[in-house]
Amino acid sequence: MGYAGSGNAGKTVYEGLLKLEYRGYDSAGIAVLSGGKTELIKSAGRVEKLGVPAQKLGGTVGIGHTRWATHGKPNDVNAHPHRAGSVTVVHNGEIENYAELKAALIAKGEKFLSETDSEVIPRLINNFYEGDLLAAVVKCARMLKGSYALLAIRDGKEEIVAAKFRSPVILGPGDGCNYIASDEPALAGKCRSVCVLEDGDFAKITKDGFEVYDENLNPVRRGLTANEAREQSLVLCGYPHYMIKELWEAPAAVKNTLTAFGEVSGKVRAALDGAKKIIFTGCGTAYHAAMLGKRYFAEIPQISAEAEYAGELRYSPVYPCGKTVLIAVTQSGETADTVEAARLYRDAGATVIAVTNCPHSAISRIAHVVVPVCAGPEICVAATKSYSAQIAALLSMAASLVDGAHIPVDAGFAPELISETLENMDIYALAEMCARSRGVYFMGRGIDYAVALEGSLKLKEVSYIPGGGYPSGELKHGTLALIDGSTLSVFIITDEALAAKSMDAVEQTLSRGGMVAVITTLPQVQAQFSRRAEVIKLPECQKYIAPLSAAAALQLLAYRVAVILGKDPDKPRNLAKSVTVE
Ligand code: AGP
Repeated sequence: MGYAGSGNAGKTVYEGLLKLEYRGYDSAGIAVLSGGKTELIKSAGRVEKLGVPAQKLGGTVGIGHTRWATHGKPNDVNAHPHRAGSVTVVHNGEIENYAELKAALIAKGEKFLSETDSEVIPRLINNFYEGDLLAAVVKCARMLKGSYALLAIRDGKEEIVAAKFRSPVILGPGDGCNYIASDEPALAGKCRSVCVLEDGDFAKITKDGFEVYDENLNPVRRGLTANEAREQSLVLCGYPHYMIKELWEAPAAVKNTLTAFGEVSGKVRAALDGAKKIIFTGCGTAYHAAMLGKRYFAEIPQISAEAEYAGELRYSPVYPCGKTVLIAVTQSGETADTVEAARLYRDAGATVIAVTNCPHSAISRIAHVVVPVCAGPEICVAATKSYSAQIAALLSMAASLVDGAHIPVDAGFAPELISETLENMDIYALAEMCARSRGVYFMGRGIDYAVALEGSLKLKEVSYIPGGGYPSGELKHGTLALIDGSTLSVFIITDEALAAKSMDAVEQTLSRGGMVAVITTLPQVQAQFSRRAEVIKLPECQKYIAPLSAAAALQLLAYRVAVILGKDPDKPRNLAKSVTVE
């Protein structure tokens, strides 16, 4: 986050960092230029720790950073900003050749203070400085391999210089001031429009304006787009946590996504026309949505659908066979593995469709077609409403390709289905069972397996209870060994055609003395297990939209368990919302 104006820079940067904290929260720091000198505060822990000292910093130009550690422990020294001579820098991303740069700088007599890769940046800039900070940053950038969104200031001149490569940077004009940040929410309520920098861009920001340059210092024109982030999305509105607030926003997110799909359905159909192979990809929760996408498209004759983790896909050989379409699912649109997988496939000649919640993100600039996910800003690190909206988008895509015969889906009912699930579900007893369990395993078949994986990830993320997600049929091939009276198995059963098979797996688990819960839309499943297991009955619905109901139940379950165990569901340990490094 950066600010150049005439107000209190320390306070402004601090307020921006609070809104960006979901991107990393193990340490934070702020540097301001005050009377030509740089003043710096930094500390391990949450941004809030800087509140009082930041107010006192004052200054009229400032930069700040909230960190998710990649190199070096989260402590005071490794926190950004990093300083060398008169130069102070904050950096997002990863410098892959930092070890060799560091060795060369040490050989020249530099003394490093931190264990970070980032510290090479201020040291290089300081070495290259010959009266022009922008020129020194450009020279430094030429030396870097990896990804960076960096801001630099220097004693004596009221300006910020920025550089961007494979990590996001936006600029925003304010009222008598200018801002720079890594994401739009930081500028909510401050800038109505933003300028999104491209890879290879440099920028100079002062109180009076900002200019963008290429690496030869030629000015570059970048237009302004509306800043979609609203302050309303960034406050709790009476909810105790963002996770529960955002869970309740899922019906609206799904509704808006279904409506927005109407505007792109023609482009999507054209992009998919004649496709022989469709590969779905993403990371974490987005990958679980991608798996559902694969299941939906697998119903369509003559299309081969696959799903693969983006981190695996980007390092696998690319074999386009006939027309290949890559569908990349990503909430942030900035996840490094997903962005790079999309770039790889686009460069290999495949058509790329991005399903994303962030229309200004990196993936949107790579994709041939963007399918909007209209979930609004998601602050909780654990994805909830964005996952539901991704499912709605993927279902709309599959349904738009075929006549009703293959995917007879009434997606319009989905928002109501989620509301009904959340309103009527009594999940407390199951949450208590989870909280007491040594391990929690989620099982399902077909579509329910993809949902089981997400249920497991959600619970692990916010409760730290070990476990996993498995296909019900795999249980007997090994996982059954884990089952005893201290473990809980949660079965998701919504697909009538596969229900009997999943019910066998429930019986096998009960026979081994394991605790069992069943989450189902099917009355016959409820009847069979209501006396022997904890049964959560979901509203009856078509199997294709059942994941939306089951996901709401599993998200609420994870939230309740986190609360019972006293964990912060919005900021799970060790995680960050947007993982822009490998
Ligand atoms: C979700 O709860 C996680 N925090 C995480 O798995 C996330 O889904 C993943 O990092 C992908 O993020 P993206 O959707 O922004 O690409």
